[in-house]
Amino acid sequence: QEMRADGLYLLPGAIDSHVHFRDPGYPHKETWKTGSAAAACGGVTTVFEMPNTNPATGTIEALRIKQKAAESSYVDFGIHGLLGDDTIERLEELLEGGVTSFKAFVGNTFGNLPAPTDGALLEGFEKLAPLGIRTVVHAENSSILLRRQQRMQAAGRTDALAHLAARPAVAEIEAIGRVLTLAEWTGARVHIAHHSAADSLFLLRDAKRRGVDVTAETCPQYLLLNTDHMLKLGGVMRLNPPIREARHNQPLWDALMDGTLDMIATDHAPHTPEEKTRANIWECDCGFPGVETQMPLMLTEVNRDRASLMDYVRWSAVNPARAWGLYGTKGVIAPGAHADIAIVDMARAGVLSQNRLQSISKISPWNGRKVQGYPLHTLVRGRFVMRDGALVADAAGWGRSVKSVQRMPAPRARNTEHYIGAVLETPAGVPRSATPTSE
Ligand code: NCD
Ligand code: ZN
Ligand code: ZN
Repeated sequence: QEMRADGLYLLPGAIDSHVHFRDPGYPHKETWKTGSAAAACGGVTTVFEMPNTNPATGTIEALRIKQKAAESSYVDFGIHGLLGDDTIERLEELLEGGVTSFKAFVGNTFGNLPAPTDGALLEGFEKLAPLGIRTVVHAENSSILLRRQQRMQAAGRTDALAHLAARPAVAEIEAIGRVLTLAEWTGARVHIAHHSAADSLFLLRDAKRRGVDVTAETCPQYLLLNTDHMLKLGGVMRLNPPIREARHNQPLWDALMDGTLDMIATDHAPHTPEEKTRANIWECDCGFPGVETQMPLMLTEVNRDRASLMDYVRWSAVNPARAWGLYGTKGVIAPGAHADIAIVDMARAGVLSQNRLQSISKISPWNGRKVQGYPLHTLVRGRFVMRDGALVADAAGWGRSVKSVQRMPAPRARNTEHYIGAVLETPAGVPRSATPTSE
């Protein structure tokens, strides 16, 4: 049918590298249908979904269950498989089964997956480097977090600030440094999830300068919210890594502008209102929904002249397409190719309301926030999944798994001793006769 778009902007649909759709395991929090409906209504045409479901996406059986659940998706999707101590032997099998990439929960978080040992992380990177496969890392130092939380609990602290005290920025700085060291050593591609602290930006800058293929995301909450909001909202704002002091907001924004941070993801982490409002902070689940509110929040900042619309498109679509190897038909990086499109009205103003969210998780720190700039229509591969601000209900199931192809050669490893093969089998793609060369 005909549609007028006078005065509107056509953007490539947003690519959200970090969502939790909870299915299998926690369908009372979210399902693929409700989560992807939220994406569709948020101008998001592709999501990458996280493995901390139940079962976690670390076996081929669990992957098949997730792929089945994803058949109801409105939007296209990639699936991050789990990189942990007991999945190292199955990485190739998971890749053949259809995961696009991996996720390592180096910091403990929802789902209580054990953090990989440094040994396993190194081995995983050694295996994935020659394949060019990128690993997302939740970078917080688990031992710092667990000890601090025990201290807080032993002191009888159950208030919101105890959560912040238990997860200091140094836990993030330390873990990012460690992950970048292992990435540089092995030549593995890595992606830092939900970068929250100003203090670790220097590590990213340095690593990029040295040629490490690291990409990093931050989220609207780390750019626009801070501990003052946490004091007002309590458990609703509990998330990992935590919201930090106001001094972090502007440096994170500057880092997006100068390319130190590559993209905006949402860490869409839905829980029910009941799970988010318990009196004891340790009993409030971590995270909140975000895939539906990212675009209006960020377009509002564009309207405030904090960035150009082109900057936003770089963060929402171009850089994620490049990081995950999403290609158009001609083999070029082409966000918006295949007609993955968000049509936005930059003039429309409104107030975000948690009750109107598609997500089952009707609780959000953005509730009541004034915004200007909304997606009006979303097309996935040429088909409307949202039209005139309303979900196109019969587009459920239109979403397809994306093909992620890393065509650029992975960075050269600083070290090649893992190719000697004395302990490990030779990583795939490396000739068995390869003789190690020293740098
Ligand atoms: C996420 C979740 O709920 O799955 N929670 C969060 O606080 N961010 C897990 C995560 O990304 O750490
Ligand atoms: Zn995380
Ligand atoms: Zn997350």
